[in-house]
Amino acid sequence: MIWTSHHLSPPLAQKLRNDIQTLDKAYWRDRSRFNPNLGLDNTAGQYYSCGKVSCPEHLSNMISLIAPEYTGRELDDWVINWTPEGGYMPPHIDNEGYLEFTVLSLQSGSGSFIWYHNNDTSKPEHIADKAGQIIHIDDITQIHAVAPATMDRYVIIFLYR
Ligand SMILES: [Fe+2]
Repeated sequence: MIWTSHHLSPPLAQKLRNDIQTLDKAYWRDRSRFNPNLGLDNTAGQYYSCGKVSCPEHLSNMISLIAPEYTGRELDDWVINWTPEGGYMPPHIDNEGYLEFTVLSLQSGSGSFIWYHNNDTSKPEHIADKAGQIIHIDDITQIHAVAPATMDRYVIIFLYR
């Protein structure tokens, strides 16, 4: 099942985004080259990640504070994904062993998260990026993708067990 909820006020999402934007390039891992999460078509997409462990402490603390909590699920990890303009993620399934994940968007108008009805890639459903919005995905076999970003797109992925 996939559903959305409102998690952060747009100004708070904007503040977090501003802090993330000041990160030195050295913090970002190019996922087309390192630890790529390959798509169904074997392509790697174009985006960058900064994980909890490699993130500066002030940012890591702030993200831990705003992490969504759910009864019966334990937050195990999180990662910031940065998709530059034109970057994208091909249709894929996450294969890191989590039970559930959420996607927190830090801006509006940067593109969309795509999921596919019955995992049929001819039936895409777009959820437009909205500052502070969370998308919940509780089925790890759900095929999903990221549409080509229309501007720098920052999201935080929270991973639950
Ligand atoms: Fe994914």
